[in-house]
Amino acid sequence: MRILVLGGDGFCGWPAALHLSQLGHDVEIVDNLSRRRIDEELGTDSLTPIRAPRERIAAWSETTGRSIGFTELDIAEDYDGFVALLARSRPDVVVHFAEQRAAPYSMKSATHKRYTIDNNVNATHNVLAAIVEADLDVHLVHLGTMGVYGYGTAGMRIPEGYLDVKVPGETPDGTPTGELIDQTMLYPSNPGSIYHMTKVLDQHLFAFYAKNDKLRITDLHQGIVWGTHTEETELDERLVNRFDYDGDYGTVLNRFLMQAAVGYPLTVHGTGGQTRAFIHIQDMVRCVTLAIDNPPANGDRVKIFNQLTETHRVRDLAELICEISGARLEFVPNPRQESAENDLYASNATFLDLGLEPTTLSQGLLKEVEQTARRFADRADLTKIPAASLWTRDRSVGAPTRIADTA
Ligand SMILES: NC(=O)c1ccc[n+]([C@@H]2O[C@H](COP(=O)([O-])OP(=O)(O)OC[C@H]3O[C@@H](n4cnc5c(N)ncnc54)[C@H](O)[C@@H]3O)[C@@H](O)[C@H]2O)c1
Repeated sequence: MRILVLGGDGFCGWPAALHLSQLGHDVEIVDNLSRRRIDEELGTDSLTPIRAPRERIAAWSETTGRSIGFTELDIAEDYDGFVALLARSRPDVVVHFAEQRAAPYSMKSATHKRYTIDNNVNATHNVLAAIVEADLDVHLVHLGTMGVYGYGTAGMRIPEGYLDVKVPGETPDGTPTGELIDQTMLYPSNPGSIYHMTKVLDQHLFAFYAKNDKLRITDLHQGIVWGTHTEETELDERLVNRFDYDGDYGTVLNRFLMQAAVGYPLTVHGTGGQTRAFIHIQDMVRCVTLAIDNPPANGDRVKIFNQLTETHRVRDLAELICEISGARLEFVPNPRQESAENDLYASNATFLDLGLEPTTLSQGLLKEVEQTARRFADRADLTKIPAASLWTRDRSVGAPTRIADTA
């Protein structure tokens, strides 16, 4: 299949592009490299020394004999360019990773909130409108987040996207009929940041285009991705994947492992009572492949899969890593507005039914990530570890650089 990977220079997009290429698909990456510029804005960098896009793609070709295309293009800004790209490449599948994905970054200031909304919602809508304008029958696979559901329980397992409800029937004048009518709705959203809000808005755009234009769309509600290597990124050191550890982009489990590796106390926010969904990066690439192989039909509603393999309480993860590594814990004030403690039960039945064999948290894998972090520890800037982005107006961060100025 011919596959465009939007955002294919990023943490998830790069290993997914390599995996799809390894499987024999004809892959082209489209990325505006905004993530690399945000590193410059924040004065941080991937812990692992990632190569320039063309260099890593050349290394892939040298290592495997397979080629991957690359186009630098801003999907949110250059709509015409994207339509032209679709018309030229005529993909069977578009995998859409191309959004600003850090909740803390999205809450830094009004500038960052506006950038995240503009970038993510425009990117998604441009992709949808362009597929219609180019008149292609493309399967769009989008990376969403478990965060659209919010983090809590409603006395039930969170279903995969849709909630079946029964509503009391009424006549037009409001008289109860005594009947219970079956309805299906998107599971009520409860985003905890502007970033998560963009994924909620994405969902509604998808529902509209699936209904109105019969586009084939799969939305993957993904948990927090941990790990850094996949089978493909390990083939050559020039293929190394990015590893974010800073207070904005570092995600909780990778951050803890990095902190343990460099001898920094594990920064547990609040009581550490937050329960979150996780997936290892190797399973992430497998899930994307499974989603591609199982498309909806034209006219079907959007397929929504919960892309997680396990849930853990943050405090328990921190304690486990302390046990393995001898690191110590430090409870720090929580910069986010969220429940101090929550449970989380979510279904991931679709991927299990499709044959996913989950790679769950094991001491061996945790150690492997910690070793990667240890190997590149001399590249770490410890001043970037604390999470400085506050959810409320009482902020301690300085005035941010406008994204447009860093382009
Ligand atoms: N990393 C996680 O733990 C995680 C968890 C759940 C969901 N997701 C979702 O998966 C997707 C990928 O996440 P990631 O961790 O790889 O993020 P990332 O920031 O590493 O990668 C995103 C890529 O998209 C590119 N991009 C952003 N806006 C663009 C635009 N307008 N035009 C072209 N390219 C653009 C960036 O330059 C970057 O290379 C995101 O949509 C994210 O919301 C990630």
